Amino acid sequence: MAYQLIDGKATATAIKAEIAEAVRLLVAGGGKQPHLAAVLVGHDGGSETYVRNKVIACEQCGFKSTLIRFEADVTEAELLACVDKLNRDEDVDGFIVQLPLPVHIDEQKVIMAIDYRKDVDGFHPVNVGRMAIGLPCFISATPLGILTLLNHYHIATSGKKCVVLGRSNIVGKPMAQLMMQKHYGDATVTVCHSHSANLKEECRQADIIIAAIGKPDFVTADMVKDGAVVIDVGTTRVADATRKSGFRLNGDVKFDEVAPKCSFITPVPGGVGPMTICSLMKNTLAAGRHEYYQ
Ligand code: GUN
Repeated sequence: MAYQLIDGKATATAIKAEIAEAVRLLVAGGGKQPHLAAVLVGHDGGSETYVRNKVIACEQCGFKSTLIRFEADVTEAELLACVDKLNRDEDVDGFIVQLPLPVHIDEQKVIMAIDYRKDVDGFHPVNVGRMAIGLPCFISATPLGILTLLNHYHIATSGKKCVVLGRSNIVGKPMAQLMMQKHYGDATVTVCHSHSANLKEECRQADIIIAAIGKPDFVTADMVKDGAVVIDVGTTRVADATRKSGFRLNGDVKFDEVAPKCSFITPVPGGVGPMTICSLMKNTLAAGRHEYYQ
């Protein structure tokens, strides 16, 4: 079957151009330039890359950005003090604390300390709860990016069977919630995870598979029905001596054998990744405009 590749990079570029135009109009009308702050703890290679790309995206969108760095031995109290300062900084419209945090810091405590009105990651329980009952809120960037991609490619989801692989707070859980909701996916959703007994059978029945389990090449051709839509959220770093960096990003889907069975599939890299950052930019614009909260 001839499959169509879902180009997340091009879609994100187009949406960032729309955001930049909206910012231009906002500022021309006397409004304030949206300002995103990012807090980065330690020197995790993946986190460094993500945060760098977020700062670049801010420039592309015409936002102001501030990067705040701490060494990995920062205390929880110091980090909470930084969150408190950003909560009170009137120039900062939204901010994120890049995860994961070092093990000596309680991640949930840090997330809870963020003012939900500035929580452009959509991780605070107020935003998670509002999302779950369909109220306006900041929606977690990766699930929002996937919904945007499905929409952009006119992929029908209403009434379809969707299998979400993975149950993380950042992707699996919000993705399943949104795919189920009438005004978003409107699909019949099954969540599978590391302890699901019949994961392969569930996948074989799916019209849409969203793989977010962080296991490279986990989804194989025998798990995918002909004509399925496959969204790959995986970005595991695997050693690759042919690359200058020494590694490559590997998705959760065994692309070469799965793609021929699909109607649509996302590549890694260039699929979901760029859309995640683009969604963060959308949320930052919404924060700057006070779209959800005063
Ligand atoms: N770590 C992995 N994904 C994300 C994200 O979307 N936001 C933050 N803050 N940390 C992450």
